[in-house]
Formats: sequence, C-alpha cells, structure tokens
Amino acid sequence: MATKNNRTNYCAFCGRSQNQVPELIKGPDVNICSDCVMMCNQIMDSDASPQADASERKKDGDAKSVDVTKLKIPLPHELNALLNDYIIGQTHAKKVLSVAVYNHYKRLRQGLRFENDTEFRDVEIEKSNILLVGPTGCGKTLLARTLARCLDVPFSISDATTLTEAGYVGEDVENILLRLIQAADGDVARAEIGIVYIDEIDKVGRKTENVSLTRDVSGEGVQQALLKILEGTVANVPPQGGRKHPQQEYLPINTDKILFICGGAFVGLDDIVRRRLGRQVLGFGGATADNGDEGTSTAIEPEDLLHYGLLPEFVGRLPVVSTLNPLDENDLVRVLTEPKNAMVRQYQKLMAMENVKLSFTSDALQELARKAARKKTGARALRTLIEQVMLDVMFEVPQRHDLTNFKVTRKMVCDQKATPADRSPKAA
Ligand SMILES: Nc1ncnc2c1ncn2[C@@H]1O[C@H](COP(=O)(O)OP(=O)(O)OP(=O)(O)O)[C@@H](O)[C@H]1O
Ligand SMILES: [Mg+2]
Repeated sequence: MATKNNRTNYCAFCGRSQNQVPELIKGPDVNICSDCVMMCNQIMDSDASPQADASERKKDGDAKSVDVTKLKIPLPHELNALLNDYIIGQTHAKKVLSVAVYNHYKRLRQGLRFENDTEFRDVEIEKSNILLVGPTGCGKTLLARTLARCLDVPFSISDATTLTEAGYVGEDVENILLRLIQAADGDVARAEIGIVYIDEIDKVGRKTENVSLTRDVSGEGVQQALLKILEGTVANVPPQGGRKHPQQEYLPINTDKILFICGGAFVGLDDIVRRRLGRQVLGFGGATADNGDEGTSTAIEPEDLLHYGLLPEFVGRLPVVSTLNPLDENDLVRVLTEPKNAMVRQYQKLMAMENVKLSFTSDALQELARKAARKKTGARALRTLIEQVMLDVMFEVPQRHDLTNFKVTRKMVCDQKATPADRSPKAA
C-alpha cells in the first residue's frame, strides 16, 4: 500500500510509481500518468463514435437483427452483367463471384424459406469463401471494387500486407472486421451479413516450406489469426482499430455469415503448378501451350498453395479457387476503350474539361497494348504508357485556346510523346 507520504509519486489510476511510467502528471492532491491520460482519451473518443453506439445497442440486447427479407437480391446474371461493364475477360472469375454473392444472399434467407419444411429445415448451407488467383494487373482488385458498387450488404476491402500477428507492429487481423463495421455505418448486425475482400493474400504465405525455428511474424501468425475469422467466430474488435487496449470496449462480431473473398497474385505459383504437372503451362489458368484454352481453376490444386506457404487449414477454408488470366494484347486494347471508365474515356473527359475533343487512332491503341503487353504488368502498364504519351498534351492544352481536337497517332505512341502542333487558327 502506498502511504500518504509516498503517494505523491504514484498514479492514482493504475497505481504504478513514477519510475514505472513514461511521465507522471502531478495535481494538487492526486497524480495521473501519461498512459492513463491516453487511455481516458481513447475511452472518451470511443464513447462519441458510432461504433460505440452500436456496441451499446448490442449490450442492451436491442440490436435489431437485419431484416433479410428486405435485401435486394441481385441475380447471378445481373451481377455478371455489371462486372462485364467494367471488367474485360476473366469470364470464369466473374461467374464464380456472381454465383458466390447470390448464394451468400440465399444463405442469409435460408431460415425463412424452409421454416416449416422437414426435408430442408435442418440442412444448413455453409459459406464457400473464395480465393482469386491471377497475375498482377489482371483485374482482381477491380473485381472487388466493382462488386462493392452494387451490393445491398456491407462490403469492405482490406489489404493483407498491413496485417501482422497480434503484438507486433502493424494492424491486427480484427481491423478487417472493423472496416466492415465501418462500411455498415457502425451497425454490427448489418456487418455480420457482409462480404469482406482481403487483397494481397499471397503476402501472408510463409516464405519457405520448411518450418522455421524462429517465428514468422508476418506470415504464418497472420494466417493463424485469419483462420478463426474465416471459419466463423465471435471476434472482439477494438472500435478504434489499432492495438487492443485492456480498457477499450470491444465490439463483439460474429463472423459466421460473413463471406470472405481473398485475392492475390501468387507470383511463382505457376512454376509450382508447372513442376507438379511436369509440362509447359502458361500463366495460372493452366492453359497449356498446345491448347491455348482460357484457363480454368482446375490446374491449381490445394497442394500448390501449400507449397506456396499457405497453411493447410487456411487453404481448406477457401474451397473455391478461381484463376484470372493474364490479359493479352487484344484484351488490353479492349481495356483501353470498352469498360465504363476505360482509360481512354478518362483522358477524353480530362480533355473535354478543356474543351478539346481527344481521340486515338486504332493503330495507336494497338501499339499501346503491344507495348503494355511486353511489360508483363497487365493493364497497369497501360496507365503508365498513356500518361507518358499524354504529358505534353496535358501540359500545353490548358493554355491553348486554339485547340479543339487532338488525335493521338501510332507514331506518337512509338515516340512516347504527343505534342500539339504550333498555334493554328481555331478550327471551326
Ligand atoms: N480485366 C480488366 N478489365 C478492365 N480493366 C482492367 C482489367 N484488369 C486490370 N484493369 C485495369 O488495371 C488496373 C489495375 O488492375 P487491378 O488493380 O485489378 O490489378 P490486380 O489484379 O489487383 O493486380 P495486383 O495483383 O498487382 O494487385 C485497374 O484499375 C484497371 O484500370
Ligand atoms: Mg490488386
């Protein structure tokens, strides 16, 4: 017990002495340490946040369960059509996602549909989390973002690269769920029927297949932590994100019904598949050099993912694997022009804001695609190339009131430079 005499050197909240705390702030009769000040701040912040309201509701037991009968269920072909508006190729992945999302909604309503049906009442439809595998720049993240546009359930995208095992520098796995709760405007009950996309999931693979003697902070530990939420658990989410603090009130969230979609480039996985098959395989899809078919997910086996460094339990929780194909030259031309927010359209809009009509000749588009295909970074390369070509135009145009049209030609793409001609009388 601290005596009256030495109490002057103790924090009245945590009881630690002056030399056990970073700083002790002394009041007339009482002291508080800097740690406790910070904690008080957090508590006050979380009381004011919408998440805290949600946790209050939950505690009081009046959290409304979401009325699933009111959800607008998009049919698989409708979802597919939406994805088609934005994403070129990747037919298989689009179909897998459309069906998965549709089934997700059906699963939410299964209880209602078969309430009095003895045949199906006790059959519980389980979720099938999805793994999307495909090379860089082929549209994985774009698929997730596009899905987010049209869903009636909360949808969040998280990046696995920021995650670390609890207790290390980086984000806790629970932050994935926090993001979902935020997407549901703090309504935990709604978040519990949401869909989560975890990007860059390949980055949590163990670096080697050998069991390392030292702990692998970034890889295996994160997979272990993800296992639980993928499977279905009641996770305690710190409402402020970041490190859990003993004094912080958690938001309990049940991940049973949450659908998880994971995506990753899995660089080198094609080599693993090739080694297993012992024959030439192009890309991930397993399109062999001789048949050139669009790949299907059949070529990737769970064992390949294990070789890549994913834990067996982890692979087991992602039963649906869909592969995305690398985009070829023709796809890249289409990427430039066809999607609703195609790159060409974006630049046309930029120029339209300067009252200039921008166009590309078809061989200019073809040349852009050819150059991009060589870079092997999928559609990402297109953006860099167009940006280079358009630099001078975008520099000049704002001060050139004489320009009303600008056409990008193949030569300009080859030279990586498009410069507006010298001042000419304004076209009619
Ligand atoms: N299939 C596609 N159809 C239309 N545009 C695409 C397609 N694939 C990629 N793009 C374009 O390329 C950009 C990058 O694609 P995206 O972010 O989806 O790549 P990714 O597959 O997630 O790659 P990474 O593994 O590097 O994250 C997109 O913003 C989009 O403009
Ligand atoms: Mg991505």
